Amino acid sequence: MATIDDAKIVELPKFLDARGNLSFVEQNNHIPFEIERTYWIYDVPGGEFRGGHAYRTNEEFIIALSGAFDVVVDDGQEKKTFLLNRSYYGLYVPAGLWREMKNFSTNSFALEFGSTQYDEKDYVRYYNEFRKLKRDGKI
Ligand code: TYD
Repeated sequence: MATIDDAKIVELPKFLDARGNLSFVEQNNHIPFEIERTYWIYDVPGGEFRGGHAYRTNEEFIIALSGAFDVVVDDGQEKKTFLLNRSYYGLYVPAGLWREMKNFSTNSFALEFGSTQYDEKDYVRYYNEFRKLKRDGKI
């Protein structure tokens, strides 16, 4: 059963260059799973938040390609906030954690990799249900 200590910041390679910087990410290396899906979040109006759910099986890896935002992870007991504000840091979030994204800066751009294809049945969208599943050791 995942706890907030299983969510980890991963520093990605960076090649600093006067012509512009370069970073990259590899599955089964920096990203500790096979990537089945990639999606992105952009044009987030000030004050909005995203997420606010848990996945039963999907693991994710989140990069702030530009701008900055907070990712709050919660295991039903404790919460932890990760600030993503550099394009060479990724955040690994295991399955079974509640997570929210908020405090998006202007023009922020979140790139997210998932270990499963999109499946609405994989979501837990109610916090009370999440707490109960966690208490019962089912997520
Ligand atoms: P959702 O995961 O609820 O967004 P967030 O967690 O960022 O607030 O997704 C919003 C909508 O987008 C949802 O109704 C389904 C759709 N969607 C897909 O079709 N495929 C995907 O990979 C994702 C992430 C979402």
